[in-house]
Amino acid sequence: MPDNSMTKAILAENLTKRFGTFTAVNEVNFSVFRGECFGLLGPNGAGKTSIARMIFGFSPLTNGKLLVFGKDIQTEARKIKAKLGVVAQEDNLDPELTVKENLLVYATYFGIPPSAALQRTTDILSFMDLSAKINSIVDELSGGMKRRLTIGRALINQPELLILDEPTTGLDPYARHMVWQRLRQLKEKGTTMLLTTHYLEEASQLCDRLIIINDGNILAEGTPSALIESYVGHSALELETDNSKYTEIEHWCSPLLKTSQNIGNTLILYSDQGQNLVDRLTTFLGNNRLTPSYQRLRPTNLEDVFLKLTGKTLETGDLQSDISEEGGYYHGKA
Ligand SMILES: Nc1ncnc2c1ncn2[C@@H]1O[C@H](COP(=O)(O)OP(=O)(O)O)[C@@H](O)[C@H]1O
Ligand SMILES: [Mg+2]
Repeated sequence: MPDNSMTKAILAENLTKRFGTFTAVNEVNFSVFRGECFGLLGPNGAGKTSIARMIFGFSPLTNGKLLVFGKDIQTEARKIKAKLGVVAQEDNLDPELTVKENLLVYATYFGIPPSAALQRTTDILSFMDLSAKINSIVDELSGGMKRRLTIGRALINQPELLILDEPTTGLDPYARHMVWQRLRQLKEKGTTMLLTTHYLEEASQLCDRLIIINDGNILAEGTPSALIESYVGHSALELETDNSKYTEIEHWCSPLLKTSQNIGNTLILYSDQGQNLVDRLTTFLGNNRLTPSYQRLRPTNLEDVFLKLTGKTLETGDLQSDISEEGGYYHGKA
């Protein structure tokens, strides 16, 4: 009998993590299928790292059930870990060792024989575009190279599931694109990935499906395009004008609207018929002798979905105070 749970890379049921009385992850449910890239998208403090750590067996569950490749993380962590590659949020390379040594030392943790470890090291460094740095001390590498090395190191045991916790946070755009390119190639080779990020661009580019999380709760789940489709439609029309008219504008445009929201002094109108919406709005503005100080029609993205769901922006969130209170727990965050 095929066991359905075996076809899943991850099955989380009512997964819960508390720190004292504080609930960081609140009864979340999701499944990750083999071969897909599954995203946890949410602002700082959403609970992404807490979920990732439970999956790679670094942090015990407070409650719920967590199966990885059909095995219970609470009883079979050792067997599971052999199949995992982990890229933690914080760089944890050995800065005094060379690039090559970092991989070889890591290989010993998985009991990989030295000759195989050496072959894999060569292959991985070539794949990660680090061959020229094989004998460099890690401390001498750029941030982007270190991150590629950390990802490469996570591949040493040829993992079936790669867990990436904010793989590009703190990298410049060029280094970020280098990482994305490699992750796409890994996906094409069939590696299952769980990726946490607070960059919507990253989630859109890499994830087949994702959950949007905030304050430990799942707000929405789906493919990036389905989430955009169902929450905000294709087009966003941003408008700044006399805000006492916003309710009237929303009412006037309602036959074409998917939804709308008011952020500060900006009214955002969402629709699947962007140009018709512009035309309809123009009529209203003309009739009311209003001249907007700002108007722009643009395609929607996951940020709009997040904004719609939470009233917050993804990259800043509302958690700045938490970050400073953490006293360094989040070093290196944008
Ligand atoms: N070891 C810990 N002790 C106490 N609180 C923690 C600990 N780790 C995380 N938290 C809290 O749990 C929440 C979720 O954190 P985290 O999972 O790191 O979020 P994210 O990775 O999405 O930024 C945050 O409010 C954070 O302050
Ligand atoms: Mg985190």
